[in-house]
Amino acid sequence: MARPHIEFIQTQAVSWSTLGDDSARPGTEVKLLSHDTDSKAVTVILRYPAGWSLDQEHHVDSDEELYVLSGTLTINDTLYEEGDYAFLPAGFPRSTMATSDGADVMTFFEGAHNRVAGTAPDGLYDGRKLVARVQSKSVAWGGANDPKVASAGVKYLALSRDPDTGDTTWLLDIDETGMTGEVNRLETHPVVEEVFVVSGEMHMPMGVLKKGAYFWRPPGISHGPVGTKTGALGLFRCKGGPLTTEWSEDAHPVQWNAPYDPILPEAVAASLSPDYDATQPY
Ligand SMILES: [Fe+2]
Repeated sequence: MARPHIEFIQTQAVSWSTLGDDSARPGTEVKLLSHDTDSKAVTVILRYPAGWSLDQEHHVDSDEELYVLSGTLTINDTLYEEGDYAFLPAGFPRSTMATSDGADVMTFFEGAHNRVAGTAPDGLYDGRKLVARVQSKSVAWGGANDPKVASAGVKYLALSRDPDTGDTTWLLDIDETGMTGEVNRLETHPVVEEVFVVSGEMHMPMGVLKKGAYFWRPPGISHGPVGTKTGALGLFRCKGGPLTTEWSEDAHPVQWNAPYDPILPEAVAASLSPDYDATQPY
């Protein structure tokens, strides 16, 4: 399997490593959350240290999505602050990247993500896919479009949608009233669902997803029921097409305190630090 089922990890338990000079982001620290051994796509948290900069006319040979978890990062003339999102297609021209105080950035690269000097070759850059910046903390949000999720306590913000594949990235902000039911239906999607819990807690049969939780779930896997009493802010992606949901007929009791019982590749399970600092956000 190119990209295995990981559900779920607390990213606090993943160790940092430092990226080398030949990487897309030399000198940053990285937490690898999941990766595709075939395409080299990765989901990572990048930690740009204070004073970091990259002054080089270059492009990256893969699509890059970023969501700023903390700090600020400037790419060319655009400043990204906490909660800001961008979809920078493969070949997007970059002249400078810099941070003064440092930045922690959830980052999704869709392919080999090589940093290549100079401008992109003809045909690589697809400007239709560009989302230069979404400031999630200041723009207006809508409601969830699935009627089984929609309520006054659930807000939805679309971040990007691929014009060809329908792959979508969005934020879902559930407040403390939005998903408190003692029972809920099970759901199945025909696409990959990938989630990072930015804040709050979500309760599922395989454990309590706290802030910093992450999963990559392949298509076709029934999951849930899901509930939250604290509320939760989640960064979601679906891969393989737009998200549709098949709901079970029957509702099932939400398990509010299920013990941690994840589905993980052996190597991932062995790499996690059991004594992580749960007060950290990731
Ligand atoms: Fe789901």
